[in-house]
Amino acid sequence: MRAKVSGTDLKTGGIALHNLQKRYGSATAVDDVSLSVSPGEFISLLGPSGSGKTTTLMMVAGFELPDSGRVLLDDRDITRLPPHRRELGVIFQNYALFPHMTVAENVAYPLRMRRVAKAEVEARVRRVLDQVHLGALASRRPHQMSGGQQQRVAIARALVFDPPVLLLDEPLGALDKKLREHLRGEIKTLHKEVGKTMIYVTHDQDEALAMSDRVAVMHEGRIRQVSAPQELYRRPADLFVASFVGEVNLIPVKLKSGVVYGGAGEKLPAAPWPDADGDATLCVRPEHLHLDPSAAGSSHGVPGHVVGRTFMGDATIFEFRSDSGLRLTSKVLNISAESMPDVGDACAASWAVSDATVLTE
Ligand SMILES: Nc1ncnc2c1ncn2[C@@H]1O[C@H](COP(=O)(O)OP(=O)(O)OP(=O)(O)O)[C@@H](O)[C@H]1O
Ligand SMILES: [Mg+2]
Repeated sequence: MRAKVSGTDLKTGGIALHNLQKRYGSATAVDDVSLSVSPGEFISLLGPSGSGKTTTLMMVAGFELPDSGRVLLDDRDITRLPPHRRELGVIFQNYALFPHMTVAENVAYPLRMRRVAKAEVEARVRRVLDQVHLGALASRRPHQMSGGQQQRVAIARALVFDPPVLLLDEPLGALDKKLREHLRGEIKTLHKEVGKTMIYVTHDQDEALAMSDRVAVMHEGRIRQVSAPQELYRRPADLFVASFVGEVNLIPVKLKSGVVYGGAGEKLPAAPWPDADGDATLCVRPEHLHLDPSAAGSSHGVPGHVVGRTFMGDATIFEFRSDSGLRLTSKVLNISAESMPDVGDACAASWAVSDATVLTE
């Protein structure tokens, strides 16, 4: 995954955040955030609006100073170093290109600031514009380009001085869905090609899951879980992560002597790895929840009825109401002509033990 590298030494670009804290007045924007990012890793900070993602990234970039805590770049403490001396490439949501400069001049700017020789500037600008597929548009001005093209200029400008780390704050936020998905792929490809560490801020879970080696989920200034995308989805660490990342059925349960009981006292399929008795929540993704009409009336699964059925193109979504009053959602891909239950049908809802996560909070 970190194979090809141009320019940057593979061993550089590690970032470590130690207990970062940032308050604005009485409000805590970032609360004891610690995170270790390996050289060449693509990590996303994912969270709802106001969860502290931008503030965290600004402390890495040097545009904000933490009240306490430290930022390390390859074991060097850069907490109080001014931004221009950190040599980190930064790309913001409102990519401010200089309107009076051509694409090539925009991209050359960071090199001119660093007093790089003219021939070297030209060579580097050409190379980086080719990397983002804009070689043919070098003499255009920003207003003569689409949003996606302008965004690629901003990426080229951040790459041109060959920083070991790129910091991206919702760089695709202003673009429409199709273009976002396209550029998402391009950034990912670029990441593989240039092998740089990337810290990517987004509130879009699909984007984070699709692009990242690991995702750090933030909520109210804190990191709630840092995991690879699959792990995050399959094994959410808490109720916030379970609900924020993907759709989920949350079923109130009771744990007793290693068994999970539903509201009506029925045994539910789940291995309760929390070693505790008492109230808990069982999480099952809609695609893991099966509704079986033939099992209705048997002791298998949770008994109830289908109360809603919606065709979504690729999938059908079923609303299920258990006899004990639980509302659950089941998602079935429309890949076979197999008959599906109808509204009103009696069913048993079930899931595999390994597809259920039990959370005690
Ligand atoms: N300069 C500031 N002055 C006062 N409060 C601030 C300032 N910057 C951020 N905040 C507050 O800190 C908290 C975290 O803000 P931050 O911008 O880091 O969130 P975010 O996760 O990036 O959100 P979004 O997804 O909306 O960009 C918010 O409650 C915000 O209002
Ligand atoms: Mg933000």
